[in-house]
Amino acid sequence: MERSISMSVSEKLVLIACSFVSFFLGLLLFIFFRRNKADPAPHRRVLKLPPGSMGWPYIGETLQLYSQDPNLFFAAKQRRYGEIFKTHILGCSCVMLASPEAARFVLVTQAHLFKPTFPKSKERLVGPSGLFFHQGDYHIRLRKLIQGSLSPEAIRNLVSDIEAIAVSALNSWSGGHVINTFQEMKKFSFEVGILAIFGHLEAHYREELKQNYGIVEKGYNSFPTNIAGTPYKKALSARKRLSEILSRIIGERKEKKSIEKDLLGCLLNSKDQKGEVLRDEQIADNIIGVLFAAQDTTATAMTWILKYLHENPKLLEAVKAEHQAIYQSNEQGNHSLTWTQTRKMPTTHKTILESLRMATIISFTFREAVADVEYKGYLIPKGWKVMPLFRNIHHDPKFFSNPQTFDPSRFEVAPKPYTFMPFGSGVHACPGNELAKLEMLIMTHHLVTKFRWELVGSQSGIQYGPFAMPLNGLPARFWRESAA
Ligand code: HEM
Repeated sequence: MERSISMSVSEKLVLIACSFVSFFLGLLLFIFFRRNKADPAPHRRVLKLPPGSMGWPYIGETLQLYSQDPNLFFAAKQRRYGEIFKTHILGCSCVMLASPEAARFVLVTQAHLFKPTFPKSKERLVGPSGLFFHQGDYHIRLRKLIQGSLSPEAIRNLVSDIEAIAVSALNSWSGGHVINTFQEMKKFSFEVGILAIFGHLEAHYREELKQNYGIVEKGYNSFPTNIAGTPYKKALSARKRLSEILSRIIGERKEKKSIEKDLLGCLLNSKDQKGEVLRDEQIADNIIGVLFAAQDTTATAMTWILKYLHENPKLLEAVKAEHQAIYQSNEQGNHSLTWTQTRKMPTTHKTILESLRMATIISFTFREAVADVEYKGYLIPKGWKVMPLFRNIHHDPKFFSNPQTFDPSRFEVAPKPYTFMPFGSGVHACPGNELAKLEMLIMTHHLVTKFRWELVGSQSGIQYGPFAMPLNGLPARFWRESAA
């Protein structure tokens, strides 16, 4: 009995040892096969992922990103890992790229390997046929039309109308009451957007579009849910109404059969190789898309310009002198700007470029790798998001000396290729950049020749909405110079 017990103990020990060995062998085999399964492309096994940390399971580094200034988050990562690094934010694995060469790779030379990517909830609000969401033939066709209607040849005819909108806006601000500069600039850029899209649009349509677009916009950055009464649900209903309004406008235009050169005219008259015209929903989605791309971006840029001019009195004097000279060179009684004059505002132009560099309104963009891609010996896996970081490049002392100093004179020399991309680059680069700059030039002309302003409250904070802009939209007071 005793013997039989001691035999069974040693047998048990052998059994336990064998179980351990087979468990570890099994584990090794499991890891081996899983790795092979996860890496179907043979080159994946030799390429490594970029350096960086993926943070916590599921949430990744989203909290770190949102608990601080996002620009500081990206800048700290770049300092630690270099120009290419990985992270995990908003539920997505991402590779961030902070060099001109990498931005060129993703946006220009290998753009076919990286598709645009937006959350479905945002796509529903803009409209799925908006050009942002597409690649290939449809995108090329839409882009040509939009770019054509916003080209210098097309917008040169808008100078006097934009002037009228700017003067009316400035007059409404003057008198010493406090205004929210960003909100007022938004009204201005919305009106200019409507002008570029529809030409002269009846006032009741403008009002209906403005009201419903405002609701859609509020829902855009809110939590997407179908629960009644939430900003997102209200935005979806307003988006439906926008389609109905646009459908009425489109119907009236079709009836008139006039050939207008504005964006709506270009979209209505376009035929593809098979002779097919665009459907009304495609036209509506692109009109809303353009309004969307045009309004907050331009308004944010103009808000920053106002702040930078205020903070740099010598520069403001130089800009004033440039515009006084233009103002006085015009015939007496006719102080309207001409297109040619808008091309000869070098100090203002450099101020705009430097404001766009300093503020970098769109600090990065998103793409998604459509295949496994190799970049500089690193693997960018298929399905990962890829983010060229414009702001990091614009603030890199290798390309812009003393990057935190506001210095328009740095633009006396053209920046090196792909170091300055306020309007993006490549196939999805901003087709509205000339219009945006024209708006800024015209607004600045009237602002500095006829008005003075002072800022109200704290002038140092930044807020994100989602673009970086001066705190509280830069509250300010304006006075007409003559009345000051
Ligand atoms: C200061 C003002 C503006 C800035 C900073 C800006 C910036 C940009 C950037 C960076 C992109 C590229 C995004 C990407 O690659 O993912 C872009 C695209 C676009 N922008 Fe602008 N933009 C401005 C004004 C405008 C205006 C005034 C319009 C139209 C009237 C406009 C229409 C568009 C459109 C339609 C696209 C999408 C192009 C495509 O996907 O092919 N933008 N913008």
